[in-house]
Amino acid sequence: MSNSSQIVRPARNVRGSVSLPGDKSISHRYAMLAGIAEGPSRLENYSTGADCASTLGCMRSLGVQWGRTEDGAIEVQGRGLSLAAPAAPLDCGNSGSTMRMLSGIVAGQKFSSEMVGDESLSRRPMARVITPLTAMGAQIASQAGKPPLHITGAALKAIDYTMPVASAQVKSCLLFAGLFADGETRITEPLRTRDHGEVALRAFGAKLERKNSGQGNQISIRGSQHLRGIEARIPGDLSSAAFFLCAAALFPGSQLTVPGLLMNPTRARLLDLLMQIGLRISVTQLDEIHGELVGSLQVEGGGLKGATIAGADSAALIDEIPVLAAIAPYTEQGIEVRDARELRVKESDRIAAVAANLRLMGAQVEERDDGLKIPGGQALHGAELDSFGDHRIAMAFAVAALRASGETLIRGAESAAISYPAFFQTLEEVTER
Ligand code: S3P
Repeated sequence: MSNSSQIVRPARNVRGSVSLPGDKSISHRYAMLAGIAEGPSRLENYSTGADCASTLGCMRSLGVQWGRTEDGAIEVQGRGLSLAAPAAPLDCGNSGSTMRMLSGIVAGQKFSSEMVGDESLSRRPMARVITPLTAMGAQIASQAGKPPLHITGAALKAIDYTMPVASAQVKSCLLFAGLFADGETRITEPLRTRDHGEVALRAFGAKLERKNSGQGNQISIRGSQHLRGIEARIPGDLSSAAFFLCAAALFPGSQLTVPGLLMNPTRARLLDLLMQIGLRISVTQLDEIHGELVGSLQVEGGGLKGATIAGADSAALIDEIPVLAAIAPYTEQGIEVRDARELRVKESDRIAAVAANLRLMGAQVEERDDGLKIPGGQALHGAELDSFGDHRIAMAFAVAALRASGETLIRGAESAAISYPAFFQTLEEVTER
């Protein structure tokens, strides 16, 4: 990826229709499960982001054959649970999802794998998968809990594990590992996180059980279950839609349509929050595809009140907090984010990145260890900003720039391609000046 800057000019409205590429969380999981399923799978509207391409690249290195059809779908020839030993390290690029979730699959193989990532991924914590996978019998060497990972596959044994951090990536990693384990693997999460791993496993034919115990949400899976391939159209990415929804929220006259959007209840907290702030949202054409809820959104700008995001909401909105924080100065009462320490170990330290960029635009911001407090009623000016190599920071500040006075330059804007290569072009198409 070459370094590029992007200039964003102020807008007066957001209008039009945006069809989003397939959800990133679902795309990763479908690509992995299609690889270890029996028979072919066809995945339409697969995420166009570089992260999901990293997952497909790793699957190919593990002996899974796949190709792109003329109409853009991905066709995967499943190999069943046994993959092939990779000839070179598995390159996860910038993708924490690839490394964490795929580690659960390679841990159950009869060979060793090396998993590597870029500079940002190499700083991210992996102990959260190393500890439970080691308890299941895999041997994992790391750089003090960070990548690269050297995973020696083993005949895994089932564990009963309570996750110390709420992480859907870790939950999926362990459910995938559970497929290779002897017995029933039981995972308890402290807070309910996105359930795409569970929904996808069921779509591919696995049986899982879910219980709400006193400690939290518990899911169990028995080993040696066979998966079968699926044909699916992946719903539009809700976390990518967040940028357009927040852009629409900035202007009372905005009108936006978003067809075929993911509406999974474990992700849709964003829609409640935006409605609470003042965006008018109606949903039509609700449908369910392979257990995932999909709908079309009609959105109209309204007020821009403030909000507090804390507790379970912070986990549920973790990927959307950067853009919500970026528009916070324009709200009436401001936005306060608490209990979101995890933001510090994402693709960048997102708390520090948001605070730095908002300050460059002239905003007052209080940065805290686990969040931010951003007063409302502030007018921002254009500035020269940095993406910090983080896709969501690049896109969040493109949105903030729409209501600033003067132009904003975003350095490292190419990082948007990690999840959404067409972002800047699409934003340009729906903004009126
Ligand atoms: C994801 C889970 C979240 C999220 C990430 C995608 C997933 O990470 O931030 O973008 O697909 O499971 P954590 O599992 O670290 O919370």
